[in-house]
Parts: sequence; C-alpha cells; structure tokens
Amino acid sequence: METEFIKALKCQPTDYIPIWLMRQAGRYLPEYREVRQSAGGFLELCYTPKLASEVTLQPLRRFDLDAAIIFSDILVIPNALGQKVWFEPGEGPKLSPIQTIADLPDFDPDKFLEFLDPVFQALDLTRSALPQDKSLIGFAGAPWTLACYMFNGQGSRDYQNVRNHARQNPKDFKKLLDLLVEAISIYLIEKIKAGANAIQIFDSWAGVLSCDEFDKYCVQPTTKIIEKIKTVYPDVPVIGFPRGVGFNYQTYIDKTGIDAVSCDQSVPLQEMQKMQNQVCVQGNLDNLMLLKGGAEMVEHANMICESLGDKPFVFNLGHGVIKETSPCNVSLLVDTVKKFKIGKNKNAA
Ligand code: CP3
Repeated sequence: METEFIKALKCQPTDYIPIWLMRQAGRYLPEYREVRQSAGGFLELCYTPKLASEVTLQPLRRFDLDAAIIFSDILVIPNALGQKVWFEPGEGPKLSPIQTIADLPDFDPDKFLEFLDPVFQALDLTRSALPQDKSLIGFAGAPWTLACYMFNGQGSRDYQNVRNHARQNPKDFKKLLDLLVEAISIYLIEKIKAGANAIQIFDSWAGVLSCDEFDKYCVQPTTKIIEKIKTVYPDVPVIGFPRGVGFNYQTYIDKTGIDAVSCDQSVPLQEMQKMQNQVCVQGNLDNLMLLKGGAEMVEHANMICESLGDKPFVFNLGHGVIKETSPCNVSLLVDTVKKFKIGKNKNAA
C-alpha cells in the first residue's frame, strides 16, 4: 500500500497534505530527554537499535505525522569511515579533523556497513512497529556537508577553510567526494533494504558555495548518489535538501534527478509553485514561527497550504524543530495541516 506521503513524493494526487518535521524527534520532547539521559551519550543512543527506534516513534505517538525519520545523525558516516566523532554537552558535534583523504584508513565497504549495522537494525525494528499508513524515512548527509565537518572538525559559519582546501587541492578533495558518494550510496541502499520507504539527503551547508563549486561539490555528487540508488531501487523516492541555495534550487532540480526538494524558509512560495511543475516540494514554515505558535503560526501554515496544497506537496519546516519549542505548538501545527481541505484539481498533470 502506498501512503499519501509516498504518493505526494511521486507527484500523484493525495487526499490530504502529508506532514512530517525535520528534527521531530529531539530535545523539545521530555520523553526524548529521558531516553537520551538513560542512553548515556548521543552516539550511544544512535547505535542502540532499541533506543533509536523508541525515540523515532515518540513523535508519532503524540502527533498525527505521516512519516517517521529514523533517529540517527549525519555524522555516523565519518565515524564509520574511521574518524573520531563526539558530542560535548551544550555544544555541537566535534570530530578530529582530517587534512587530506590520506588521514582516513582505506575504505572497506564490508567493515563500513558492519559498523553501521545498529542503524539498519533500528530501521528494521521501527518499520515492524509502524502502522502501514505511516512511512519511514532514511537519511544521509550529502558529500559536501559531510566534508565540511570532516575537514573543519565542527560547525562553522562559512567553511572558508574547507572551500580553500578544495581550491588548493582539487584532486585530493575530488577523491574524498568520490569516496563519500560511494559510502553514502551503499549506506542508503542498505537503509532501504532494512525498511526505509523514502530517503532524504541533507546538504545543510550547500548555501556557502559559489556557483561553480555548487555544481562540482553539490550537484554532481548528489546526481551520482541518486543514480546509484535508482539502479537498485527505482521506485523509492529521494528528497534533496540543499539548504540556503536560493536561485540554485532550480539548477539542483534540473540536474540531479531528485524526486522532491525540501525548501528552506527563504524560498518564496511562488518559486516553490514553479518547482511543482517538475517535482514534489517540501517545506517551508519558519521554525521560529513554530516556536512562536498561536494564531500567527496557524495563519502562516494555512497560507503555505493554500499556495502549495493543490500540487505535489509535503508540509515541513524550513529547518529543524528548535529545542525550546513547545510540543503543544507542534500539535496545533499538525492539526492545522491535517484539517486543511485541498482543492479538487489536486495534482492535475
Ligand atoms: O528527527 C530527526 O530529524 C532525525 C534525527 C536527526 C538528527 N540529526 C538528530 C540529532 C537528523 C535527520 C539529523 C541530521 C543532521 N545532523 C544534520 C542535517 C540537518 C540539519 O540540521 O541541517 C546536521 C548538520 C547534523 C549534525 C549535527 N548533529 C549537529 C549540528 C548537531 C547539534 C545540533 C543541536 O541542536 O545541538 C547534532 C546533534 C543532534 N542530532 C541532536 C539531535 C536530536 C541533538 C543532540 C542531543 O540530543 O543532545
């Protein structure tokens, strides 16, 4: 049975607007904080299938969301490639930075997948526990975004050092991107095998790239990953999230072969309407509007639904749920979107 969420991603008509939220599992939920504490560390939570599955399901117990996103992190890939990754309380993720691809051990696909086996187990457990009308999303960071963390060792405003490294050492950087394309592809294929019904690729830092870099570091590697997935699973939809790329959203759609694009809050609704002639769009309520809640949020959500609801559309935020957000606001948002009546000529294409 195909869910309304999967139908929307495939640009087929749906009975209502499907909704899920980036970071729907996380610290704004008291039940998440409890499990997180009992797990010890954040990575321990990611690598313990039962607990990862439990926190994946938590938001679906509270809210009428259409999809669960498997609880994990994009940084499990650098970790599985042999890089040290840790999370310091109150700070973001930390990695022992590499200076060249030579700092990584030789890639062994079997060892890589074995290291990530707890993630696949978590997917299997979660898919078995989910009702048939709910979908399960698997995800990975895109090569550029992973490379940012791998070289910089932590978050940054502009990743100028990583861009400079790539300019100064194009061959070394290309080798790393090729390795990441390979690793991400086999990881995502394995996630689908373990129960994922759709995939999202997070390119959270694509917005810092120049136009020529955008083609080389974002579009080309993403295109290759999609090709590889589609060879094995042609029917599993892939959502791309090249956050903050503005005009280049259109380039991304034209070139990568992506099924759906997730738009950040800066993308005008009229531009998203144009994209709907080619792909399904996802987004793009400002996460600060969700934090604020109330009538203003409801009005904004309805405006988004009115603009986009008659063509292929999945409701989401422009970026993840902020940890100070009240679960009541999430409940109000999900109910607002679920109550929205879509037009009769939905997806007429
Ligand atoms: O519910 C979900 O969306 C699924 C789980 C998920 C997490 N991280 C859990 C998480 C997903 C899809 C991610 C993706 C991710 N991780 C991205 C891409 C999306 C984006 O936000 O742009 C990135 C860049 C990362 C790297 C990362 N992991 C950062 C920057 C942080 C710190 C963020 C913060 O708010 O502190 C993390 C940690 C992290 N990943 C948390 C969660 C719930 C919070 C850690 C905790 O519980 O202590």
